[in-house]
Amino acid sequence: MRVCVIGTGYVGLVTGVCLSHAGHEVICIDNNEEKVKLMQSGQSPIFEPGLSELMQSSMEAGRLQFSSDLGAGVKHGEILFIAVGTPALPTGESDTRYVEAVAKGIGSHLDGSSYKVIVNKSTVPIGSGDWVRMIIMDGAKERQKELVPAGGGGGSAEELKLAFDVVSNPEFLREGSAVYDTFNPDRIVLGSNGSRAITMMEELYQPIVKRQFAEDKDAPEVPVVVTDLSSAEMIKYAANAFLATKISFINEVANICDRVGADVTQVAKGIGLDSRIGNKFLNAGIGWGGSCFPKDVSALVHTADDYGYEAELLKATIDVNCRQRLVALEKLQHELKILKGKTVGLLGLTFKADTDDMRDAPALIMIEHLNRLGAKVKAFDPLVSQSGLRHGLTGVIVETDPERLADSCDALVLVTEWKQFLELDFNKMASLMTDPLVIDGRNYLHREIMEKAGFRYVGVGR
Ligand SMILES: NC(=O)c1ccc[n+]([C@@H]2O[C@H](COP(=O)([O-])OP(=O)(O)OC[C@H]3O[C@@H](n4cnc5c(N)ncnc54)[C@H](O)[C@@H]3O)[C@@H](O)[C@H]2O)c1
Repeated sequence: MRVCVIGTGYVGLVTGVCLSHAGHEVICIDNNEEKVKLMQSGQSPIFEPGLSELMQSSMEAGRLQFSSDLGAGVKHGEILFIAVGTPALPTGESDTRYVEAVAKGIGSHLDGSSYKVIVNKSTVPIGSGDWVRMIIMDGAKERQKELVPAGGGGGSAEELKLAFDVVSNPEFLREGSAVYDTFNPDRIVLGSNGSRAITMMEELYQPIVKRQFAEDKDAPEVPVVVTDLSSAEMIKYAANAFLATKISFINEVANICDRVGADVTQVAKGIGLDSRIGNKFLNAGIGWGGSCFPKDVSALVHTADDYGYEAELLKATIDVNCRQRLVALEKLQHELKILKGKTVGLLGLTFKADTDDMRDAPALIMIEHLNRLGAKVKAFDPLVSQSGLRHGLTGVIVETDPERLADSCDALVLVTEWKQFLELDFNKMASLMTDPLVIDGRNYLHREIMEKAGFRYVGVGR
């Protein structure tokens, strides 16, 4: 099928690349000309395992193109994905201005010559499906007014006879395994009021539903949840709110463990074996971050508020997380007392491993507070250090290798669970430090190995 994906970030680019790999003819549109040029040259502007390889092979096969020309994208696509960012406003509401701009742009390029499916892939507030329809119509009407001379009539939605439906198709991929998740999803959610649109979406996703590109090709078909627009939009928010709450829950348990002398890793194992609970998202640590959980939980709280409901549990989920982000700092103060004049080395900067995304990363808050308390902060991160991408980082010296990081540090804090951190030469690192103390902010390192290397090891909730 002919597909247009608008917005080539973590979601849009991965969606476009994977759909083209699955055999569709895809054009990806972005209004960032620099990014478009980079992609046209075969390079990915983001890091995701396996993405560059698939991108290059689809381009060579002639099924994947990049452009900044929205009109060309709208003309090409039977199915148009909106995959632009929806960051949080300072109030916690979702900032939908990018979605609005794209919807308006689509409207201004629709000519009614063929039926189109407009898909909200961006995470948008509940009710956005109808809102996007309205904005598309507004865009079309404005364009019509420009085309028809004053007093010449025209311009009404009916006269434009635009044939399109809006579908909500929320995305559940995880950064760091986005390509894998796209080909191995737990489910596909499709919300729409138009049956024609649903049929086209089901056809689009057939190769994925049938697991043609899955790791386990014999696994049962991917479940497709077909529902109304609002329920599909709510599924995305509810999923992220649940996962964030699960992490805040285990972090709360960890804080109690710390006080009573229990080990949260053992507790998580013990409760995770209960099939009603499950063992995922039960790793205690320095809290959740990234580009989705913080903004999506806040947006849901805000939506509830708009409708006169106080989402107390979700507010507590956020509060617990805000406090948890300071837990490593409290442990540093407990161990080192005065932080003024001390040097702290952060192992990892990104909000999770295998991504270069620094949005709302717990490391940022840690750097800010350590600076405020007078500590010098250094960091090493496999992607940030080696790519040279500093993401506007201030107040931190980014070192080029772990040993330079350890040199003259009073403490190390493990911030991101990068696999390669398990293989570091900790004996050497301990010998280079002023005080070989490690705060394991993710309970990821092995206490015995660290202690054998000469470290004083402090985990979270153990
Ligand atoms: N990142 C994730 O892990 C993830 C997972 C699930 C859902 N989501 C949701 O998907 C959406 C996209 O997230 P992302 O992380 O990919 O965002 P991103 O910020 O990485 O990418 C957005 C892209 O849209 C482009 N853009 C902005 N305005 C545009 C316009 N008018 N025309 C064309 N391009 C435009 C930007 O240049 C950028 O390349 C968000 O709503 C997010 O909540 C993200």
